[in-house]
Amino acid sequence: MRGKWKVLLVLVSLLAITAMIASCAAPTPSPTPTATSPTPTPTSPPPEVNALTVYHWWTSGGEKAAIDALVKVFATKYPDVAIMQTPVTGGAGFTMMGIIKTLVLAGDAPDAFQMHAGYEGKPYFDAGLLDPIDDLWKEEGLEAVIPEVVRHMCQFDGHYYSVPVNIHRVNVVWYNKSLLDKNGIDPTTLTTWDAFFAACDKLKAAGVQYPIQMGEAWTAAHAFEQIVASMGIDFYQDWINGKITAADDPKLTQALEIFKKYLSYVNPDHAALTWDDATKRIITGEGAFNIMGDWANGEFYVAKMTYGEDYGTFAVPGTEGMYGLCIDVFQHPKGVKHPTNSLRWLKVVASKEGQDAFNPIKGSIAARTDADISKYGPYQQSAIADFKVAKYMFPSVVHGSGAPESFKVKLSDIISGFTTDLDVNKAAQALTSYTKEISGEYTIQWSIK
Ligand code: GAL
Repeated sequence: MRGKWKVLLVLVSLLAITAMIASCAAPTPSPTPTATSPTPTPTSPPPEVNALTVYHWWTSGGEKAAIDALVKVFATKYPDVAIMQTPVTGGAGFTMMGIIKTLVLAGDAPDAFQMHAGYEGKPYFDAGLLDPIDDLWKEEGLEAVIPEVVRHMCQFDGHYYSVPVNIHRVNVVWYNKSLLDKNGIDPTTLTTWDAFFAACDKLKAAGVQYPIQMGEAWTAAHAFEQIVASMGIDFYQDWINGKITAADDPKLTQALEIFKKYLSYVNPDHAALTWDDATKRIITGEGAFNIMGDWANGEFYVAKMTYGEDYGTFAVPGTEGMYGLCIDVFQHPKGVKHPTNSLRWLKVVASKEGQDAFNPIKGSIAARTDADISKYGPYQQSAIADFKVAKYMFPSVVHGSGAPESFKVKLSDIISGFTTDLDVNKAAQALTSYTKEISGEYTIQWSIK
């Protein structure tokens, strides 16, 4: 429950990755002057150039339209600033985070880069590579408009280090409505895995070869994560707190068995598809179902599909009343070249205007509670309503928040292997022994019920 949501930061030894970052960290760059600095002398550093570099992984049709709308808000406010966007292809940031780590370690952090709230920023925080932004939160009055659950995920040791731009929901099934209608399938009845698989059987019998469409490795891990959530909030909480350590854990093996069955309805070329390629196959009607976060809504918009008429959604079976969280944030890295514009960017990201320009296109709901709901389409209006009454909210592991980064990466590898060998025992062994191996990295203990 939201009221009970708290994050307990447990002081244990620093993460392995943190140690690595700290030991390799470049010397602290000298402070950069502001644009109003006096004329430079031979000894003073160069004046701040009026530019802003922004890294993100929003490269699909819907994502690009959304970030362009946000950049436009910034550009309108600060017309003299040269904005350089660096989009890095690769959903969920799996590719970009490696690039960012290299830049930050080299003392060359971009002025702004996309990241996920929660664990993903922890190694940077632990290594002293982020500036606290409590003042910005205060000046912008953010505490009054950002829900508690999100506020906690933007903090380390009780201080703010990031601002959220959105709240994405991850436990969503997207469906092609005419395919379901044609086959007499009522999506509101698909609340259990049995009912869902029975619908898949029906579609198969009617000639839909692969009723479920899936993409590359991380999207398989994304689907598996939702199955883990469908095992119940207690199990999910134990999982993200590093407490599932027995390979014969009945819920873990059950989740893998369900995923094995799920895979029997999945397109065999999944490893070659991006997440949006897989979503497009629901748009074209090649497949009926796709488990994906609600950034998928942006692709349905681009394809000019109408929610409720051409496509629809339901909560992943077994997760009704739960809201799986993926929260995109920006932060203020230490030593950036354009600190003034970096802070301006954070303000635009956190603003009502910025969020109401970005999120209606992106598919997410605003991180702010004072969003102008009339700007959001019917899917998002239903998501806003669901968020308000959600019984449980759970932070996504695949999307950087719920568990240490190394686990997120390993999970994707293990699940990717599982999609080909379908070996439940092997996957359960691999997942639990890795959890034990990195036990010291579980420095955040979640209480999400
Ligand atoms: C998520 C990200 C979303 C969306 C998605 C696919 O991790 O936070 O905003 O972009 O990946 O790339």
